[in-house]
Amino acid sequence: MRHRSHALAAALALSCATLQAATPAKPATPEADATVLRETANALFAPVPATIETVRGQAITAAQVELGKSLWFEPRLSRSHVISCNTCHNVATGGADNVPTSIGHGWQKGPRNSPTVLNAVLNVAQFWDGRAADLKEQAKGPVQASVEMNNTPARVEATLRSIPGYVDAFTRAFPGEREPVNFENMARALEAFETTLVTPDSRFDRFLAGADSLDATELRGLSLFVDKGCSACHSGANIGGQAYYPFGVVERPGAQVLPAGDKGRFAVTQTASDEYVFRAAPLRNVALTAPYFHSGQVWDLRQAVAIMGSSQLGHELDASEVEAITRFLGTLSGRQPQVANPVLPASTSSTPRPE
Ligand code: HEC
Ligand code: HEC
Repeated sequence: MRHRSHALAAALALSCATLQAATPAKPATPEADATVLRETANALFAPVPATIETVRGQAITAAQVELGKSLWFEPRLSRSHVISCNTCHNVATGGADNVPTSIGHGWQKGPRNSPTVLNAVLNVAQFWDGRAADLKEQAKGPVQASVEMNNTPARVEATLRSIPGYVDAFTRAFPGEREPVNFENMARALEAFETTLVTPDSRFDRFLAGADSLDATELRGLSLFVDKGCSACHSGANIGGQAYYPFGVVERPGAQVLPAGDKGRFAVTQTASDEYVFRAAPLRNVALTAPYFHSGQVWDLRQAVAIMGSSQLGHELDASEVEAITRFLGTLSGRQPQVANPVLPASTSSTPRPE
C-alpha cells in the first residue's frame, strides 16, 4: 500500500513537472486562468469612468454641457451653415464619420480619418499627432480649418452674438463674465459637452470588475493582446491614446496605408526621429469606427490587427490569433451616449449669411 502510494505520488510529481514545463506558471483550470488574466488586465488597463466631473481642475457645470451640446450640433459654426462637429463625429455612429478621410467645406476631402470623439477626454493630447493639448484647444481647430468648417473666430462670435438664445446660454454657462459670448468660451463649452461622451460599462470593463462577461475566444484575444505586446502601446483606460510611436516600428506598411506625405508628429516637433510617428490609437469602440488608421484606408478590423502585428511587432499573426484579438477588441464597445437632438435658437436679421 505504502509502496503503491509512493509510486502514485512520484508519477503525479512527474506529470506535474511535465505540465509545468509545458505551461510555465499557468494555473490549470480556465477559471484560474481568467483570474490571473483579470489581474494582469487590471494592472494594464482601467475601466472608462461613468462620468467626468472636472477639466484642468475646474468643475464642469450643467449649463456648460447644455450649451456645448447645442454648439456640437450647430451648423452655423461653419461658414457654409451646413457642417457641424457632429457631421464628422456623429454620436449615432461611434463618434466618427465612417469614411476614409473627412469631407468638409465645399465637399473638400481632408487629409486624415476622423478619430472618434467618444472617450477623447481620456487621451493624453488630441489629434493623430497630438498637436492639441486638450479638448478646449482642439475645438478651435476644425472651426477654422479651411477643409473643415472654414470659419473665423470673429465671424463665429458675430453669429453667436446675433442670436439671443445663445447670448442667454453663454451668460448662464459663464456667469459673471463681461462678454461671455466669445470664441474661447465656445471651445470651453464644446469641451464640457465632450466630457459627457464617454462609453462606460463595456463587456471588457465588466470583466475587469469581476464578471464572466467574455467568452473563451475573447479571453484568448485579450491574452494574445497582452502576450504579443499590443498592450505595450495600447494601455490605460482608453486602451491607447497615451503616447507616440512610429507607424512601422519594425516594418513600414505600404504607401496606401502610410502615405509618404503625412509625416505625423514630425510636423509638430520638427524632430527627424518623429517622422511617421503617431499617437497609439485609442481602441475603445474600435469595432464601430471603421475605416482604420490615420489614412482611413483599411476597412476590415482583422486586417488592421494583422498590419499592427507585422508593422509594430514584426510578427505575422496567424488567422486564429487575428480572429481572437479582433473578437477581444469587440468587447471594448461600451454604452453609447444617449444624446437628444437639441432645438437650436433661430437666426436673426443680423446673423451672417451662409457662404
Ligand atoms: C470636416 C470634418 C470634421 C469636422 C466638421 C470636425 N472634425 Fe473633429 N476631426 C476631424 C478629423 C479629420 C480629425 C483628425 C485630424 C488630425 O488628426 O489631424 C479630427 C479630430 C478631432 C478630435 C481629436 C480626437 C482624438 O482622438 O485625437 C476631436 C476631439 C474633435 N475632432 C472634435 C471636433 C469638434 C469639437 C468639432 C466642431 C467644432 C469638430 N471636431 C469638427 C474631422 C472633423
Ligand atoms: C509600438 C506601438 C504599437 C504596438 C506594439 C501596437 N500598436 Fe496599434 N497602433 C499604434 C499606433 C501608433 C497606431 C496609429 C497608426 C496610425 O497612424 O494610423 C495604432 C493603431 C492601431 C489600430 C487602428 C485604430 C484606429 O482607430 O484606426 C488598431 C486596431 C491597433 N493599433 C491594434 C493593435 C494591435 C491588435 C496590436 C498588437 C497586435 C497593436 N496595435 C500593437 C501603435 C502600436
